[in-house]
Amino acid sequence: MTELQSLIAKMTLEEKAALCTGASAWTATPVERLGIPELTCSDGPHGVRRVPDVNSITVESLPATCFPTASCSASTWDLDLVQKMGEALAEECIALNVDVVLGPGANMKRSPLGGRNFEYYSEDPYLAGEMAASLIRGVQGKGVGTSLKHYAANNQEFQRFTISADVDERTLREIYLPAFEKAVKEARPWTVMCSYNKVNGTFASEHHYLLTDILKKEWGFEGLVVSDWGAVRDRVAALKGGLDWEMPGPQDRHVQAVVDAVRSGELDESVLDEAVRRILRIVFKAKETPKGGKFDVDAHHELARKVAAEGMVLLKNNGLLPLKNQQHIAVIGRSAETAHFQGGGSSHINPTKVAVPFKELKERAVGAELSYAEGYPTDNSYRPGMIDQAVGLARSADVAVLYIALPSFKESEGYDRNDLDLTGQQVALIKAVSKVQPNTVVVLNNGAPVAMGEWIDGVAAVLEGWMMGQAGGAAIADVLYGKVNPSGKLAETFPHKLADTPAHLNWPGGAGQVRYGEGLFIGYRYYDMKEIPVLFPFGHGLSYTTFAYSNPRVSAKTFKDIDGLTVTVDVTNTGGVGGKEIVQVYVHDQKSGLVRPEKELKGFAKVALEPGETKSVSIPLDFRAFAYYHPKYKQWITEDGEFDILIAASADDIRQVLTVNLESTLSLPCILDKESTIREWMDDRRGKVVFGPYYEQIQIQSRQTFGGGEGEGSIGVDVMEMMNDMPLVSVLMFMASALPVHPEDMVAGLLKQVHGME
Ligand code: BGC
Repeated sequence: MTELQSLIAKMTLEEKAALCTGASAWTATPVERLGIPELTCSDGPHGVRRVPDVNSITVESLPATCFPTASCSASTWDLDLVQKMGEALAEECIALNVDVVLGPGANMKRSPLGGRNFEYYSEDPYLAGEMAASLIRGVQGKGVGTSLKHYAANNQEFQRFTISADVDERTLREIYLPAFEKAVKEARPWTVMCSYNKVNGTFASEHHYLLTDILKKEWGFEGLVVSDWGAVRDRVAALKGGLDWEMPGPQDRHVQAVVDAVRSGELDESVLDEAVRRILRIVFKAKETPKGGKFDVDAHHELARKVAAEGMVLLKNNGLLPLKNQQHIAVIGRSAETAHFQGGGSSHINPTKVAVPFKELKERAVGAELSYAEGYPTDNSYRPGMIDQAVGLARSADVAVLYIALPSFKESEGYDRNDLDLTGQQVALIKAVSKVQPNTVVVLNNGAPVAMGEWIDGVAAVLEGWMMGQAGGAAIADVLYGKVNPSGKLAETFPHKLADTPAHLNWPGGAGQVRYGEGLFIGYRYYDMKEIPVLFPFGHGLSYTTFAYSNPRVSAKTFKDIDGLTVTVDVTNTGGVGGKEIVQVYVHDQKSGLVRPEKELKGFAKVALEPGETKSVSIPLDFRAFAYYHPKYKQWITEDGEFDILIAASADDIRQVLTVNLESTLSLPCILDKESTIREWMDDRRGKVVFGPYYEQIQIQSRQTFGGGEGEGSIGVDVMEMMNDMPLVSVLMFMASALPVHPEDMVAGLLKQVHGME
């Protein structure tokens, strides 16, 4: 018996049931008599929201560093930096007596309208998974736990507590689960938080397939599953599904329900014991890290500034940036004075200090005169007077820097956005200012893409500053003045307009259901297939220098799927200043059994280069880089054939293409059945051997039955083309009189043969 097992054996049923539900808004239930300590958690994900009164969810939290939100940190594409951010978060947890921080969030950005998109990394599962795993490694490397959230298919705020996300299996496996899968397998989070919503009709908190079959059994998750706050409806059903720990507590009624269910035999006590074991494992693990002390406020502020500077994306620049020695600068927009650096809701941090964008700009604009106009109000009203004032300043300046923040009434946890637009006042302001001042820079602070069609042509530069964390004001100034050469690239596509976006026709659902009708095709996967032009593609970001890609090569032209490949390319800084380039590798499958996206990101690297310097960048691609999930085989499969390796600076800027040949090592089971079509029989390796000899006969017979020779028959169709997509048994039915046995028996015989070959 292990130590934990003997401890569990000493616990009463009531103690076990109580342990599986929190004692307060933030703590687990201790059992003093047995020396089981309390466990404390706090939000997440880009700062520690340690609420001093554990019985309150929303009171002001203790000061902590507000790091950039996930939209920004993902745009760094810098895994080491994100890991460092995780380490800093852990140090703050230790100082604030927190055992588990509730993050990172690994949900996909299905639509740019998602209210919590700022808390999530990307529209691409590979990138999101890498980011989440790096943050977890950073935090947990210091002995503090994480909670990977919100599992799963929680991609909108509309009816987020109840809606059923209806997603087909392949889409789940290829788009909505892989970021969780990677983070779980590679970084082993202590906890995973289930989401509020239902998935295909079942609450995520009760979802046996997601929580037990996939997460715990298939991916080997050893930690505990915690509910999102208030996500448990039926405590007993949740335990059966695999939900170990319900939060927040106390929930006496739920605890009693568990006790009653065990007593009545409805719930097997071993299911409860397993949840208790998982919770205790984490509780004791957490206590191995002594808490208390202080964290380095200044060092963490500096780190937050670095992440912000690396995550900002220079979207457009006609050469105005970096600013040089402009004498008179019109600074316009209230977010220059009141930094908009984080989003509303559970992730809201009480910052240790805040860099004010205006002040920071002033410090770098040595000798220049800065004037300020507020530009837009806090609410959605239209104030022409404010615009006039801003225009007056801009007209007489050498450059106008507009700080435009998407207000929280438009973007926050708890509600989705209605559109991609800035406020009417902000759009009018940008247009009016840029009309009188061609040297206009727009600095955006928002958590998700905004439409720019009405004004982008009139401005000289656009810097996407995101919700950039408490130090972001300094990072903006650094980038504007070239103290930092921008190197962020978009982790999500910026579309031209809402109607172009992938989920547009299936958003946000209603009557309790949202259908993920676009399937695999979210983000660039959709724009690629539909050939829809975008405002800024996934992976886009400008620099103050330029990069050339040359000498692309692969470790092998022909390779086995299990061996994978390494792609290498030389990158040269061809401009005049040092900078960093993010090299992206996408994979394109030339031919596949099921439809696949045009290309998918499967690797990337960020490289720093001095002017004139060249470095070789190597990016490994593994089995999964070439595989897709086959819903009939119920596994990831590869198929023999040619793949293009696209080495790119963005999803729309492919610099080099190499073609490689994959040899699949899989020996797949035969999935032919009595409904299989003739084409499926002929496409199947074994099916072709068994059925192939009859194919020609069927062709002849079909033509006799339906008339016609080659090409169109008497009913105006190419008979064999039509037959190919009919079940074999149905085709045989039409020619039954010419067959020695009944068609159903004939197919049964063939199936026996083909399955006998395995
Ligand atoms: C959010 C979670 C958060 C939890 C605790 C929930 O409403 O969805 O992300 O961790 O509250 O604040």
